[in-house]
Amino acid sequence: MARKINIVEVGPRDGFQNLCDYVPVEEKLRYIDGLADSGIRHMQITSFVSPKAIPQMKDAVDVAREALKSHPDLDLFALVPNLRGAQTAHDIGMKKVTNVISLSESHNKANIRRSHDESFAELAKIREAFPDMDVSVDVATAFGCPFEGKIPTERLVSFLQRAYDLGVREFTLCDTTGMANPAQVREVVHTVREKFPDCVFQAHIHDTRNMGMANTLAAIEAGIDYVQSTLGGLGGCPFAPGASGNTATEDLVNMLNEMGFETGIDLESLVALARDEKEKIPGIYSGHLINIPKSA
Ligand code: COA
Ligand code: ZN
Repeated sequence: MARKINIVEVGPRDGFQNLCDYVPVEEKLRYIDGLADSGIRHMQITSFVSPKAIPQMKDAVDVAREALKSHPDLDLFALVPNLRGAQTAHDIGMKKVTNVISLSESHNKANIRRSHDESFAELAKIREAFPDMDVSVDVATAFGCPFEGKIPTERLVSFLQRAYDLGVREFTLCDTTGMANPAQVREVVHTVREKFPDCVFQAHIHDTRNMGMANTLAAIEAGIDYVQSTLGGLGGCPFAPGASGNTATEDLVNMLNEMGFETGIDLESLVALARDEKEKIPGIYSGHLINIPKSA
């Protein structure tokens, strides 16, 4: 039987956060509905962050509330930088959040204005306050940082251990500015699997240096549990210089289909959605498939 690959769409968060022009709530919801209709089952739908830091996410509560109502059967979650964000998620009945902390302390300060000690203290508070909520950690800059460069894998392991000691069992390894290469991804995934055999790992890959697909495949072949991507290859962190789009979901689905993997996602409707959204969302789409003429 073909191996099932779990794809997590993060465009509604990572994609939109990097767009300057505000995308209205109805449009965000249409986008989420379209992704769900294409067979996407796991989706990061927004982030509960300061609207001063990310103006695009000022409508997070409205988007999340509606999406949760429309898709009660899907795995929908949000990114939070602090207890306040987790509280908002909890208040509207969201069951799962991911707390972003960067492996690089410089990026953590640029992104959420916290030291590592402060961020881990906040994570402890979130775990304590909401024992009924799934709390994973998004490890930003896990494969390298625009300020600090490459970070040794041992530092990643100690970082994960700190969160593990607070009860966290799910992590997303984020290549925030696309600095990873396939050999490094393989090595990192093998190492964390070996050190934390009872944890679930996701890979969040950016295509900044044209290695997005290769890195994603390396993560899959090394046995990662979930891979993240964005429709049309939107995405990027506004607080990381040089950040650009993620691996495009439709390109990823196409590659995996061609290789005989099972994704449960309908490629045709996903590409149709990407083409359609390209006309409406004021942003750069860097996916490849949507640029191939329909007749080709
Ligand atoms: N949701 C909504 N508003 C929030 C919030 C949250 N989770 N956390 C803080 N705020 C508000 C505060 O109420 C305050 O508003 P005010 O100025 O109107 O009183 C303001 O944001 C600043 O709060 P403070 O606690 O002093 O935070 P800060 O200025 O030190 O910023 C963060 C820290 C984490 C809130 C902010 O940097 C942030 O939201 N960053 C998100 C970055 C991000 O999403 N990056 C991309 C994803 S990796
Ligand atoms: Zn990202």
